[in-house]
Amino acid sequence: IDAFFQLKLLAGKRVLITAGPTFERIDAVRGITNSSSGKMGYAIARAAWESGADVVLVSGETALPEPLGCRRIDVVSAEEMLQAVNAEVEDTDIFISVAAVSDYYVLNPSEQKIKKDAHILTLELGPNPDILANITARDHPPFCVGFAAESENLLEYAEAKRKRKKLPLLAANLVQNAMGSDENEIILLDDDGETRLTRAPKLDVARRLIAHIARLYQKR
Ligand code: CTP
Ligand code: CA
Repeated sequence: IDAFFQLKLLAGKRVLITAGPTFERIDAVRGITNSSSGKMGYAIARAAWESGADVVLVSGETALPEPLGCRRIDVVSAEEMLQAVNAEVEDTDIFISVAAVSDYYVLNPSEQKIKKDAHILTLELGPNPDILANITARDHPPFCVGFAAESENLLEYAEAKRKRKKLPLLAANLVQNAMGSDENEIILLDDDGETRLTRAPKLDVARRLIAHIARLYQKR
């Protein structure tokens, strides 16, 4: 019903979104992942669809149903997420990077389940590609929106991240406020300064975020 009354702010635009955690295999049954339910990214996908966009959602493993109106591509690892994003980014107008991407992967995953013993187990980790940085480094990048989940010094860390990743817009939230919750509160950082999206259900926050993105996109 809400969707019915929404202004079609992104009519005809192609929006690519990453959401959820990535999972890096250790052995046949174990892996390294990040805490992320995928709820915020899925809410943004839904809000983008409500605003008239053509939405592609590249998703790590979540327990969520495919959001209405979106085309979902399921991936597991950060490397797979990068491949899927690269395959879809052509003709994308807006890229919103919400995924909690594992910063590292396991260098030599075991095909078989590792059996326990009483000793210390050492895993060697290599750095994963930065998917968002790969996109902003393209010749003609889409309008890119990043997320920063921090546990402390939110504004300082987030603004540094925005500069480092050369993002027109970064959405900053405290992990304590967002993780596992059906609600969120976010601070948007762009060239005009800060905009606070006060605490509300994730879909409401997502709709306000999409409206903000549409404004910035129109005047870019
Ligand atoms: N991101 C990404 N690929 C990665 C790591 C992060 O696309 N390998 C994206 C996230 O989706 C998010 C933004 O980059 O939009 C910031 O992610 P974050 O983990 O907060 O920042 P990092 O640069 O990885 O720094 P750190 O984890 O050390 O805070
Ligand atoms: Ca990270």
